[in-house]
Amino acid sequence: MHSPIIVALDYPTPQPAFELLEKLDPQLCRVKVGKEMFTRMGPVFVEACMKRGFDVFLDLKFHDIPNTVAGACRAGADLGVWMMNVHASGGRRMMQAAREAVDKSSTGTLLIAVTILTSFSEEELAEVGFSGGAADNVSRLAALAQSSGMHGVVCSPREAQQLRSDLGGEFLLVTPGVRPAGSDTADQRRVMTPRDAMNAGSNYLVIGRPITAAEDPLQALQQITDSLT
Ligand code: C5P
Repeated sequence: MHSPIIVALDYPTPQPAFELLEKLDPQLCRVKVGKEMFTRMGPVFVEACMKRGFDVFLDLKFHDIPNTVAGACRAGADLGVWMMNVHASGGRRMMQAAREAVDKSSTGTLLIAVTILTSFSEEELAEVGFSGGAADNVSRLAALAQSSGMHGVVCSPREAQQLRSDLGGEFLLVTPGVRPAGSDTADQRRVMTPRDAMNAGSNYLVIGRPITAAEDPLQALQQITDSLT
């Protein structure tokens, strides 16, 4: 079955991550492995997720010279990850090289781009040299990602509607910042419910703590799944 839910595995040690994998159902979700877990546990951990039947989104947000990013993306594709990502601000040549590298592997890995990190304030954006507001930069970089061969972008659910209308129906929108109605928002500021995010045009929802910190993670996952139908 096709589930839009990607569970973010953000743990400092392997044990709780493996415990969670035992509880979750790969028919109901995919998993995201980020910098912290990958740096500690490496490809072995990614393989362990896949061996348990989970598709893996390798969230390493590569940003480097085209040749280096291409090599890293080829390595991820050869590992068999379902999805991985790069920074759109690495530019057209970097993204094109990444896409070509992924396509050389026959694993069908999806490649998406990060536009502007949602942690940036407008002042911080100006400080690193971006002109204009976050929304304008997100739109511009998402269009660049699309024309550079990316399959989609990571974006805030608040940006999904605009990007969906600008970039068409095929471009993948992957959205964190999702919280079931009534749940703790933790450090996320501008959140949307899973259903509203899907209605706004998201294809995939990255959800961490509402599932990983739940007393019964499988039940939390099931409830979110049910809320989407
Ligand atoms: O626990 P929570 O649902 O907030 O986890 C969201 C996940 O999505 C985390 O792994 C976080 O790093 C990631 N993420 C995010 N906002 C972004 C990009 C990634 O929350 N803009």
